[in-house]
Amino acid sequence: MNRSQDTQHDQQPARSSVAGLLGEIAGVGTDPVRGGYSRPVYSPAEADLREWFIEHARRRGLDPQVDRNGIIWAWWNPSGGPLRDAVVTGSHLDSVPGGGAFDGPLGVASALAALDLLEVDRLRGNGSAPSRPLGLAVFPEEEGSRFGIACLGSRLLTGTLDGARAGALRDADGVSFAEASARHGLDPGRLGRDQEALSRIGVFVELHVEQGRGLIDLGAPVAIGSSILGHGRWRLSITGEGNHAGTTLMAGRRDPMVAAGAVIGAVRDLARARADARATVGRLVPVPGGTNVIASRVDLWLDVRHPDDVVTAELVAAITVRAEEISALEGCSSSMVEESLSATVDFDADLRRRLAATLPDAPVLATGAGHDAGVLAAHLPTGMVFVRNPTGVSHAPGEHVENDDAEAGAGALAAVLRDLLAAGPTRLG
Ligand code: GLV
Ligand code: MN
Ligand code: MN
Repeated sequence: MNRSQDTQHDQQPARSSVAGLLGEIAGVGTDPVRGGYSRPVYSPAEADLREWFIEHARRRGLDPQVDRNGIIWAWWNPSGGPLRDAVVTGSHLDSVPGGGAFDGPLGVASALAALDLLEVDRLRGNGSAPSRPLGLAVFPEEEGSRFGIACLGSRLLTGTLDGARAGALRDADGVSFAEASARHGLDPGRLGRDQEALSRIGVFVELHVEQGRGLIDLGAPVAIGSSILGHGRWRLSITGEGNHAGTTLMAGRRDPMVAAGAVIGAVRDLARARADARATVGRLVPVPGGTNVIASRVDLWLDVRHPDDVVTAELVAAITVRAEEISALEGCSSSMVEESLSATVDFDADLRRRLAATLPDAPVLATGAGHDAGVLAAHLPTGMVFVRNPTGVSHAPGEHVENDDAEAGAGALAAVLRDLLAAGPTRLG
């Protein structure tokens, strides 16, 4: 990791640029096979990024702590008051397989850059020290790319997901989340709802790269988030008969891979028949997965999204029925298991109004992507700031943010934090 020296904690803190911060981690977790970045939670790459954040927080005089769910918290509390009703910002450092450089790290780097802006203000004597604490947070396994359930850290924090169930989740190599957590110094028996940590947060604002084409034609570098599309994940297992690719006649086969191919087409057709629906099979796992082996089972991971949760349920039911029919035609059977489900989230209206007053030129955008801010929204006011992505590509190496836009994002985040830190606790309206 190439750590630049552009940040120091003394009485004259140099400001880190977002591009400078991201440049320091540009070599961490690059994926020579898929392209882009593969930074699964608690992998050496993600652990390196967590250390990078911790080191940056320490350089700024903060005392970062990892809580029992693996969330990193760093508190800036110049007034020395109690850790209550804090303004919190942050994001995640894990990635999808072969992902882009910005999904997650942009929010973390922008949080550090925004903190620098606030610290410069304070040292210059512009305004009094905020009475509310500011927290920087890094959430583990936001993507769910290793253990299957997205926003695992915030789901555990809020009790949306039970600690025992999370601990039992296994990655592709059979390592459980409990084991992975233990290897990172956590006590797996303590995974789960953390009321004390939750009660410190008064309001949460996450800055994130915009993940579609939403800002491309609006002539604005940042937008305010309005809502998150309802989304969920299901695992469809199609079971047939494993056998030899050369000795098993075509007529005698019960090949779940053939059924899987037809199911994928049906998923596309069924989703297209419903306005605003999105359904994706992005991961197909044949068991055992050999070129000269007819698979005995194929697991398809299904991602379904729609603004109306009733439509999501109805679409998944239709896919389940169609998968059973297709599987039966191939002499196979199928079963569908719900792994996670998040209803559509509308961000807190008072907080949105407040963000709009602070960022009057920012358009308002809904997102089709999931975020920890969406999970936290059921428990406290949350909001999001999106930064323009000129390619409109995300979850792929083509994801991009221009340096000037990243700086505009950090400036916007600092303005939002400044305003919220000055607001009385919970009086957001
Ligand atoms: C995460 O980015 C998701 O939307 O799945
Ligand atoms: Mn993200
Ligand atoms: Mn993502």
